[in-house]
Amino acid sequence: MGKINAVITGVGGWVPTYILDNEEMSTIVDTSDEWIMERIGVKTRHILKPEEGAGTSFMMTKAVKQLLEKTQADPDSIEAVIVATTTPDYHFPSTASLVIGNNGLKNAYGYDLEAACAGFLYAMEQGACLIRSGLYKRIIVCGGDHMSSMTNYQDRNTCPIFGDGAACVMMEATEEEYGLMDSYLRVDGKGYENLHMAAGGSACMPSHETVDQRLHFVYQEGRTVFKHAVTNMSNAVSTIAQRNNLTKDDIAWVVPHQANVRIESAVARRIGVEEDHVMINIDHMANTSGGTLPLCLWEYEPQLKKGDKIIFTAFGAGFSWGASYMIWGYDGSKFADTPAEFYKEGTISREEWYAKRRNGDK
Ligand code: UT7
Repeated sequence: MGKINAVITGVGGWVPTYILDNEEMSTIVDTSDEWIMERIGVKTRHILKPEEGAGTSFMMTKAVKQLLEKTQADPDSIEAVIVATTTPDYHFPSTASLVIGNNGLKNAYGYDLEAACAGFLYAMEQGACLIRSGLYKRIIVCGGDHMSSMTNYQDRNTCPIFGDGAACVMMEATEEEYGLMDSYLRVDGKGYENLHMAAGGSACMPSHETVDQRLHFVYQEGRTVFKHAVTNMSNAVSTIAQRNNLTKDDIAWVVPHQANVRIESAVARRIGVEEDHVMINIDHMANTSGGTLPLCLWEYEPQLKKGDKIIFTAFGAGFSWGASYMIWGYDGSKFADTPAEFYKEGTISREEWYAKRRNGDK
């Protein structure tokens, strides 16, 4: 038996219906559409409201359901589900257990992986390792966050950045030269001061005081995080490109974590890749933390071609970061006609759906 590779064979996704635009944001905190567009690049973000559903598992369950419908995979054939999230429904049980139960995946085990905004990158590598071991043939890797559940809507420095959403990929074994080829992943343990949620864990248990002091929300020193993000993502992409003898002309797509459009542009400039080869959806998705990379794949899937060389990169709390190199395994156009509940019962394409949303047609 030859070398086993782990290849993505489908993408599913889901984002909440409610759209919080910059106009509404400027009624919540002292900000403006101009400032947010210029400094972050977010126009609208999806927010999960209680009347629609609750928790990350709600979104991820729908994403996995769509993936199964799209790929026509037998639910009994799924052997594992890895969930990258920083906003699990509960401390325990795991969000993976809920997603598995909700989708009736009775032959799967699963677990959550927490690496903040780098979570999906780590989870893809974990999934690939399971498959390369020869013990697993078909698994699902999910990434997503209910960021609005830990966003402080009294802090204008952070609240315009985040949105809610989840997506997932099917990963399967192949002996062909497709799939996740290489990963460079790091965490330095130096980022706590600059990016954290202080309370709610075992070091600082929830209490009336922690609630009064608003310690159950994201705290971020934006400028410091920004600098580390640009440097570490750029270096990680360069390392992975050099290690795999990739020049900028070989790279069909760079898929960066969607934290700030200026970070994405800076990373693209540093590695010399033209911006039309960089997946960007931050304008309408915002930063969904563990969801950004798979949501990019979900939206760009129709443009992806078998053999495309793709570099993923992400950076987040910890600090944790890295880059992965993948050879894409199928023409995304094969799913073009797939009806999905998300796109209004499949009556319009995702491009049309988003065009309508951008025009304010809710
Ligand atoms: O996903 C995990 C990793 N996270 C990241 O990679 C995020 C990295 N950081 C960033 O994206 C940016 O640093 C932010 C978007 C968070 C902030 O942008 P910035 O350009 O770094 O702004 P700043 O913090 O340097 O603030 C500049 C000014 C300040 O006013 P003064 O002190 O110059 O008078 C802020 O008070 O902008 C002000 N400001 C705002 N003004 C209007 C901060 N937030 C806002 C706002 N609206 N929402």
